[in-house]
Amino acid sequence: MQHLPLLELAREFDAPLYVYNAQTIESQYKRLTNAFSKVNSLKINYAVKALSNVAILQLFEKLGSGLDTVSIQEVQLGLHAGFSPDRIIYTPNGVSFEELEQAAQLGVQINIDNLSVLEHFGQVHPKVPVCIRINPHVMAGGNTNISVGHIDSKFGISIHQLPHILRIVENTGMHINGIHMHTGSDILDIEVFLYAAEILFDTAKHFKELDFLDFGSGFKVPYKKDDIETNVEELGKKLSKRFNEFQKEYGRDLTLAFEPGKFLVSEAGFFLAKVNVVKQTTSTVFAGIDSGFNHLIRPMFYGSQHHIENLSHPKGKERFYTIVGYICETDTFASNRRIAEIKEGDILCFHNAGAYCFSMSSNYNSRFKPAEVLWKDGKGILIRQRETFDDLLRNQILL
Ligand SMILES: Cc1ncc(COP(=O)(O)O)c(C=O)c1O
Repeated sequence: MQHLPLLELAREFDAPLYVYNAQTIESQYKRLTNAFSKVNSLKINYAVKALSNVAILQLFEKLGSGLDTVSIQEVQLGLHAGFSPDRIIYTPNGVSFEELEQAAQLGVQINIDNLSVLEHFGQVHPKVPVCIRINPHVMAGGNTNISVGHIDSKFGISIHQLPHILRIVENTGMHINGIHMHTGSDILDIEVFLYAAEILFDTAKHFKELDFLDFGSGFKVPYKKDDIETNVEELGKKLSKRFNEFQKEYGRDLTLAFEPGKFLVSEAGFFLAKVNVVKQTTSTVFAGIDSGFNHLIRPMFYGSQHHIENLSHPKGKERFYTIVGYICETDTFASNRRIAEIKEGDILCFHNAGAYCFSMSSNYNSRFKPAEVLWKDGKGILIRQRETFDDLLRNQILL
């Protein structure tokens, strides 16, 4: 991996700080497109929710990517970053009908995951092409919060409701141009993708005018040294072959679409935070950092793992630490981690901080959100200023 002067960046831009490596994003994007080079028409729609800074969206625009969006605001961010509407797919869940219409008005690809909404939309806008998100009922994903294809999931229209989907399509005369699924995140086993793909193919056969099949995402990235990851190269070989066969059976050119978030940005991101206090209790040595789950909530929310290193004293003797934040809640980033000896004032670096980190940050405890820097062409470029007290007060009204 390319060396980033993280400590210098923390000095220059201050901590807490998010740093993203443009080169990693680019190489992950190319890795995926290369893996599927045997498919004639491939579309990668970057999942904006993972990291939505407009400078990052601009990077994806230049790479030729599309965008996967889940809110009208993400659509607007994409347009602001220079994407044309035809490069954006909008896959909401549980949003108002007005929001759906607003997205259709903007000209983005609509993806519907609810029968009643499909019926309503088809009656009012029969000419707007619509993609349908199915729920294939495949149990996949790293944990229950990120597994969304199972029977109890709120996402997608059950494949068992296919007859009802077909009746709505026939009755409204609406044009279905895509079928979509997303079964979860952090899927290790490529057989799960291949199995779910067959369900998508079976569903697709019932629609005569499809332009694309969207296989969602779920690629697992490594979170620590020697961790396992989805073998996208092998998946690319197997799924491309099967997709090309299906395309022949279907008798019409189809685009194969994916919408990864983590795979494209997780490893590109680093979160840097200063150690405020080292506190020894009867059982534990805590290192308390100048941050909390207001800046990085994944460990508390998902139990996710972020490798942590001491940038200030990387060669120190290793000791066991529990890394906690300053939030007035239990906000433990890691327990009993072996880290080079930590002194107050040291800068710690959290790895895999590109996806679902800044984008899930908040102002809890009335703290400022951190700054974001993009490392590109040998330079650190500020892409979001650290918040100030004015940002906290914006929109608040004194009595
Ligand atoms: C519909 C949809 N597509 C794509 C993604 C991106 O998933 P990942 O970050 O695992 O690639 C998600 C994640 O929540 C999602 O819900």
